[in-house]
Amino acid sequence: MKILGIESSCDETAAAVVQDGRTLLSSVVNSQIDIHAVYGGVVPEVAARSHIEVINPVINQALSDAKLTWDDIDAVAVSYAPGLIGSLLVGTLAARTLAILKNKPLYPIHHVESHVYANFLTETANGIWNMEYGDSGSTLIANSQIPIATSAPAFPILALIVSGGHSQLVLFRDHGDYELLGQTQDDAVGEAFDKVAKILGLAYPGGPSIARAALNGNPTKYKLPKSKLSGKYNFSFSGLKTAVLRAVQHETGVDFTFPSSGLAQRLNDVQRADFAASFQRTAIETLVDKTERAFYDFDAKSVVIAGGVAANAELRRILSERIPIHIDYAPSDLCTDNAAMVASMGYYYSLKNQPISPYELEVIPSLSMSAK
Ligand code: KG4
Ligand code: ZN
Repeated sequence: MKILGIESSCDETAAAVVQDGRTLLSSVVNSQIDIHAVYGGVVPEVAARSHIEVINPVINQALSDAKLTWDDIDAVAVSYAPGLIGSLLVGTLAARTLAILKNKPLYPIHHVESHVYANFLTETANGIWNMEYGDSGSTLIANSQIPIATSAPAFPILALIVSGGHSQLVLFRDHGDYELLGQTQDDAVGEAFDKVAKILGLAYPGGPSIARAALNGNPTKYKLPKSKLSGKYNFSFSGLKTAVLRAVQHETGVDFTFPSSGLAQRLNDVQRADFAASFQRTAIETLVDKTERAFYDFDAKSVVIAGGVAANAELRRILSERIPIHIDYAPSDLCTDNAAMVASMGYYYSLKNQPISPYELEVIPSLSMSAK
């Protein structure tokens, strides 16, 4: 069964074709990072407009990359929640229209849940994974040859889902059968990377910038607190962000009334790298501590990480050190927002659920992953 996935929940316009949930036939991601970098974050209205401009070419490209036509496609899967309302509307409207015009079943996909499915993509048409990036102005083609995971994770799967909007630990007993073990009580970890990058004067998006700066830094230079929360598997990152702010103020000799926008220029490169490394180490240890605890408490058979922050190399290194089973990480390109994960989940969803009427699908901007 070949499913066309469509994803537009935030600032990436994406379409992909996946066969039987596992075989990646194409994946096209049009990133708006350059457009939003000017503002230091995603501007919802700008995002929606950009999705409208590129959604049709992105879908056509996904079909042509897979060397398929609409006749070969069995169903359409689309992220309908959660995300920015204007962004979600563009992808779902495209999916609904195509489902009606081409007479295909339509499956509604929860964006956060679908991140886990990057780990189910274990095969490609030719054994090699080539990712193409476009952007509405210029087209940048990154033909990186990245190995994808070699085997699908076994249930029960402990999933650490960490992105710009979510930080949660979820136990999957089967497809669609999961329990939310814990989640952030304030900022998502990706949001903390983005905010700390801003304080340090590093480029948006903050995650990759901090990871890069941290390569030259000393992760034990600044002592930052790990939050202590009542919930066993819950996270909190807003205190850590504030602790970085206070430490930078202290290091640069200003008091807490000093505007944070002026701090970055008072830091030299060594201090900046040390702050990036110290913050990254503390944030990652917080994630790994809780994951390790849940791994033993629930006897998980496999551990996966998903969401944009799962691209972080230091998180992968430390998690592999602490968890005694092999973790088969998905390539970074499939960790950040993409439609291949949506198409993969669409397949497993379709095995257990009826399609939704394209006339009835609504977007839900703030739907969390609660226990099912
Ligand atoms: O999943 P995603 O692409 O979009 C959301 O659904 O949020 O995640 C984006 C987040 C951003 O906060 C970005 O800074 C973070 O993932 N990120 C990283 C890395 N790459 C992206 N964080 C840490 N290390 C990275 N290498
Ligand atoms: Zn995401």
